[in-house]
Amino acid sequence: MCPRDVMTNAGGQQAASPNAHRRAVIAAWLEWQLESGVDCTLEWPRPKPRDLAGAEPTIRPDTPSATQSLAPAPRRLSARSSTTGDARAIARSCSTLEELRAALERFDGCALAETATRLCFADGAPDAPLMIIGEAPGAEEDRLGKPFVGPSGQLLDRMLAWIGRDRRNSWITNVVFWRPPGNRTPTAAEIAVCLPFVERQIELIRPRLLLFLGGIAARALLGVDEGVSRLRGRLFQWQSEALASPVPALITLHPAYLLRQPAQKRFAWRDLLQAAEILGWPQEEAGNPRQNRQGKERPS
Ligand code: URA
Repeated sequence: MCPRDVMTNAGGQQAASPNAHRRAVIAAWLEWQLESGVDCTLEWPRPKPRDLAGAEPTIRPDTPSATQSLAPAPRRLSARSSTTGDARAIARSCSTLEELRAALERFDGCALAETATRLCFADGAPDAPLMIIGEAPGAEEDRLGKPFVGPSGQLLDRMLAWIGRDRRNSWITNVVFWRPPGNRTPTAAEIAVCLPFVERQIELIRPRLLLFLGGIAARALLGVDEGVSRLRGRLFQWQSEALASPVPALITLHPAYLLRQPAQKRFAWRDLLQAAEILGWPQEEAGNPRQNRQGKERPS
C-alpha cells in the first residue's frame, strides 16, 4: 500500500482509503476470474457509439481506470469475414495436408484464432491407419502448436502404448484448431466452422479407423446425440462422398476425463482393445503375429 492509500481516522488510527479498498476489491475479483479459468479478456461485440449513449459509466472517463493498472488491455475481436460455407469450399480445394494447414493459417472464420497463441493443426504420421480426434487444444497445446502434448496428451500416449501404438503410426487432431479461452468447451458455431477442415483431414489421411476422444468429437462428426457412455463400445461408420468406402469409427472416454476419474480407465482399455482388433496389432502388421498380445496386462 502506498502512503496516500492510508488515512487517519478520528481516533488517530490508520485506515485504508477508499482508493485502496477499491484496489483490493478489484484484485480479489481478478483473482477469482483467474481461479475460474479466465485467462484473457475480450471485448466482443465492440460497443457501437449509440449503445454507449446514455449508458452509465462505472468509472469516470477523467480518472484512470482502476483495471488499467491491474489487467492487460482487452483484445479486440474483429468481425469474421469467412463463413462455414467458405470453410467447406476452402477445405475441399486443398489436396494435401500441407495445403490444408496453410489454408487454416490464413482462415479468418473462427473467433478462437484471435485469442489463441497459435494454430494447433495435427500431429503424427500422414499415412497412419489410426486417426484420433479430440476436442480442443489446451494451454500446452496452444503454447507448442501441437495437439495432446499436455497432461491429457501424456495419458493418450500411454493409452496408445497399451496397444503397441504411438504417434509414428497415429494421426492426432481436434475438432477445433485453436484453444478456447480459459479451456471452455468450444461452441457449436466454432465447431461448425472448423468441421470442414477436420473432415478434409480424414479424407486426405484415409485412416482405417477413427477414434473419437469424448462426446464432443463424436457428436460433431457422427451426428449422434447421446452421451459418450452410450456411444462407446459401438462401431460407427463415417461416410464421405470423397471416399470410396466408409471409415469405421469408435468412441472412447476423453483422457482429461480419465485423469479425473481413473477408475474409468478400464472402459478405455476395452475400447482400445476393440481398436486393436480392428487395426491389428503393429507387430502383426510388421509380420510378427500376436507378440504384443501375449501377457499384456490391463494398465492402471
Ligand atoms: N489437448 C488436446 O489437444 N485436445 C483435447 O481435447 C484435450 C487436450
